[in-house]
Amino acid sequence: MRILAIESSCDETAAAIIEDGRKMLSNVVDTQIATHALYGGVVPEIASRRHMEAVVRVTEQALADAEMDKHEVDAVAATCAPGLIGALLVGANFGKSLAFAMNKPFIPVHHIRGHIAATYLAYPELKPPFLTLIASGGHSEIVMVKDYTEFEILGGTRDDAAGEAFDKVARVLGVGYPGGPKIDALAQNGDPKRYKLPDSRIKDAPLDFSFSGLKTAVINLAHNAEQKGETLDREGLAASFCAAVVHTLVPRLEEAVHQTHARNVVCAGGVAANSFLRAALSDMAKRTHTRLFLPPLKLCGDNAAMIGAQAYYEYLAGNLGHTLQNAYPTADIGRNICDKA
Ligand code: KG4
Ligand code: ZN
Repeated sequence: MRILAIESSCDETAAAIIEDGRKMLSNVVDTQIATHALYGGVVPEIASRRHMEAVVRVTEQALADAEMDKHEVDAVAATCAPGLIGALLVGANFGKSLAFAMNKPFIPVHHIRGHIAATYLAYPELKPPFLTLIASGGHSEIVMVKDYTEFEILGGTRDDAAGEAFDKVARVLGVGYPGGPKIDALAQNGDPKRYKLPDSRIKDAPLDFSFSGLKTAVINLAHNAEQKGETLDREGLAASFCAAVVHTLVPRLEEAVHQTHARNVVCAGGVAANSFLRAALSDMAKRTHTRLFLPPLKLCGDNAAMIGAQAYYEYLAGNLGHTLQNAYPTADIGRNICDKA
């Protein structure tokens, strides 16, 4: 089964063709980073308008790369939640209309389920159940993937997502948008012990965490240095911040491994590209005798291939969209986002 998938939840307009959930026939990503970098972050209305301009172009490119005519696709999928609502509506409505016009099924896909499914494209042997750390721009959670369309949230952030913390700290350090890759690069030559940063503890919730204290500590450090006229060791601060994020996420995931006796562990979302996190996760896998599955770097960020991979399993579970299918800015990973006919 060949699915044409569309992704437009934030600042990438993407289209891909995926066969049977596992084989990538094409994967086109049109990024708006240069536009939003001018403003230091994503401007939602501009993102929606750029999706409008790009969605047909990326779809035609995905079909051309797969050497397919649009009438040869068996179904159309699109991200319908969560994300910037104006941005989501562009891809969701385009996908739904295309499916309607071609008389093919429409499959609404949850964006975070898609991030997890990116891993299926790289590891044909990976099957649920497995434990997942989700670390993206909008979400940070520890999730048990019980089956392809069945999820249990075991813990998560009480405030900012990991990626959000990276982006805010990047702004303070003046490295620009998007912050994650820039902080990662800056940290390569820094001393991770250079600055002492706080650790978050949530009483009676060992798998929950928080990034707001860490973010505030970095902001205060930067402001104090500026007021005193001291030069900040930016590389050291970036490295200390990466170490603190790792120290927030990895011990909780390790605790979840012990609690659930998981054998297989996945990390998904944009922050899964972070070099310090990837190294710490592979150390954890050795310590806990688990097998670690990390998506390749190009599938960590937003793309439509991951949406096409998850769409196949949603299709098999009967989770189809109907003519009144809507899009939603927020939705738990456990929620079935198909609107009833
Ligand atoms: O998953 P994603 O592409 O979008 C959402 O679904 O939110 O994640 C984007 C986030 C951004 O906050 C970005 O700064 C972060 O992922 N990110 C990174 C790295 N690459 C991207 N964070 C840390 N280190 C990286 N190498
Ligand atoms: Zn994402």
